[in-house]
Amino acid sequence: MPLVIAKEISDARSLCESARPGGKRVAFVPTMGALHEGHLRLVDAARESGGFVAVSIFVNPIQFGPGEDFDRYPRDLDGDASKLRARGVDLVFAPLASAMFPDEARTKVSVSEITQGLCGAFRKGHFDGVATIVTKLFNIIGPCAAVFGRKDYQQLQVVKRLVADLDMPVEVVGVPTVREADGLALSSRNAYLSVEERQRGLSISRGLSSAHALFRSGERSSRALRLAVSELVEKNADGVDYITVADPDSLTECPLSDDVGARALIAVAARFGRTRLIDNTVLGEDAPPIGFGEGR
Ligand code: PAJ
Repeated sequence: MPLVIAKEISDARSLCESARPGGKRVAFVPTMGALHEGHLRLVDAARESGGFVAVSIFVNPIQFGPGEDFDRYPRDLDGDASKLRARGVDLVFAPLASAMFPDEARTKVSVSEITQGLCGAFRKGHFDGVATIVTKLFNIIGPCAAVFGRKDYQQLQVVKRLVADLDMPVEVVGVPTVREADGLALSSRNAYLSVEERQRGLSISRGLSSAHALFRSGERSSRALRLAVSELVEKNADGVDYITVADPDSLTECPLSDDVGARALIAVAARFGRTRLIDNTVLGEDAPPIGFGEGR
């Protein structure tokens, strides 16, 4: 089936509705476009479900704060569409902001507690923007499954919470972070980095990999594991928002005086030039960013 690009909500909805009567599952990948291999890996995971695959491309204004990069966020609908066509996608939903957020809209969706720490502490209102757009997109597409990257680990947990709390009939699938060969997590925002900033940005994946090595050698002190990351990142970044050791499910911070359990999330947000990079790993669960091949 050839790729269809729908700009209208009603068109996207009726295309997904017409896919379902034949018993096809609808699998959905929400994105903001400027697609890279990380996004395409989510598309592959969606296609594996064997059904109709829908991808949304929408730079969601309500998840950007004042002074963030909404205006300069990379946009390339034609390039994105050809990548998705080659990957066997059925539908691209690329609405206008005015259709998604008409002036009279008054409703937002807000998830508490797990949105407070990590990025939530530095990007006020960001996760309300994410929860609201994801709810709207799910209502339009009506997916059986929706695929998200573990690269945005907090976002994935927020979406899982949202779906459970509001009894949405959607299976949320998390896909491991896809990385460059040298460990840098793929991101649409990497396009902003100069060569020199990119080099310094590698300190994040290197630090996370050192934490894995320590963890494997038996280290469980939250302080020591965090230090493995902060030593490298603080030396290289132009600013650090957070380097946090937390419970991978509740996202509750693990005090530095405590030991971590069998699994521990280490999440980082740091700036290189004007670019804010985020990355994370779950010790005891993920493969290290460097050393065992990309993104497993
Ligand atoms: P965006 O940043 O475009 O990311 C779309 C999806 O791709 C997210 O689930 C994200 O986690 C995943 N992704 C990005 N880089 C990845 C990588 N290197 N490896 C694996 N997955 C990766 O996240 C958003 O858009 C928005 O917040 C959205 C959910 C679309 C709501 O507006």
